[in-house]
Amino acid sequence: MFSSRVPGDLGPNTVAVAVERMRLSGRGFDDLTVSNPTDAGIEYPEGLLAGLADPRALVYEPQPLGLSVAREAVSAEYARRGVRVPSSHIVLTASSSDSYALLFKLLCDPGESVLVPTPSYPLFEHLTRLDCVHALPYRTEYHGTWTIDLEDLRYAIDETTRAILVVSPNNPTGAWLKRDELAALVDLCAAHHLALIGDEVFADYPIDPAPGAVRSVIDQGDVLTVSLGGLSKSVGLPQLKLGWMALRGPSALVQSALMRLEIAADAYLSVGTPVQVAAPALLQAGYDVRLQIRQRVLSNYRQLLEAAGRHPSCQALRAEGGWSAVLRIPHTTAEDECVIGLLEQQHLLVHPGYFFDFPRDGYLVVSLLTRPDVFRSATDRLLTAVCT
Ligand SMILES: Cc1ncc(COP(=O)(O)O)c(C=O)c1O
Repeated sequence: MFSSRVPGDLGPNTVAVAVERMRLSGRGFDDLTVSNPTDAGIEYPEGLLAGLADPRALVYEPQPLGLSVAREAVSAEYARRGVRVPSSHIVLTASSSDSYALLFKLLCDPGESVLVPTPSYPLFEHLTRLDCVHALPYRTEYHGTWTIDLEDLRYAIDETTRAILVVSPNNPTGAWLKRDELAALVDLCAAHHLALIGDEVFADYPIDPAPGAVRSVIDQGDVLTVSLGGLSKSVGLPQLKLGWMALRGPSALVQSALMRLEIAADAYLSVGTPVQVAAPALLQAGYDVRLQIRQRVLSNYRQLLEAAGRHPSCQALRAEGGWSAVLRIPHTTAEDECVIGLLEQQHLLVHPGYFFDFPRDGYLVVSLLTRPDVFRSATDRLLTAVCT
């Protein structure tokens, strides 16, 4: 009856079962996996959502690529980051997931593939599968900073490959794409007629970027390149459902891509009018929210480095940007067992590395978005439990 685009196994994983058990038994725990900014004690400026009540939102004017007022605001947002992209090259979507869905439809026939980094965002597997696309992994490796294993990436390209995805900064490793890596990816894309997709949803959150970090994949225009962003991270408002893509590349190719995206987006018209009308004000007021999140992430990260420094058997890996940090811990038990033990005995929840496809056991991921008081005490307990 059902397609294989959606998983056949609908059961929860072992960590989710343990979390449910804790909840049902009324035992509370500190959550070091929080990724929802609206549930993290961030103070949103008063009147932030006032623009949603703008009377212009009473008029429905279907524009598949988005209303010009919002596309111009997004173009100005790129300019703020020092990246020039005309509003005519901006496409609005309801979220980054929506952007991926449109891009897979634009670039891939069923059964074709895109290259995705590992470790990285776990949703890629589902997003690709929902569009009948294969996600072919390529490795990124840690040597004091994370770098792309270009040999592995080259090896992963086959005749079905249509695009290379990079996440910069990456979730959860915080890896930031470097200039020499971008140059190598562009060469590969040119040689194999691939598009380059840069997920830059966390680009507003530098932590400790290494030299050579690029502002955006669209800093170059040699191949068809798409940068992804959205209000979800830029202004900490995932519930408003506004994402975007910015296209750059050889002019004829960009125009062809935009015309096709317009046809695909016209079939859904998924972005609401109020959020588009409010986009300029939201992006402007977003500064306040971004600053709070940035300060929180930085102070939690510093605290983690300091605490990990007291436990020589553990290492907090360098995070260049984003909202999470990775801990390398002694590999004495399977990650699931370790995470469930921490939940039941220390009353704290962390992500096991395997959620993000780390190559082996011995990694835990913590959210730097966690409230600082909770973060301090939970990470102290965590390090004491697993690193002594
Ligand atoms: C790398 C990455 N891209 C995209 C998203 C989701 O963005 P959106 O809420 O716009 O779909 C996330 C969410 O955590 C993410 O980690």
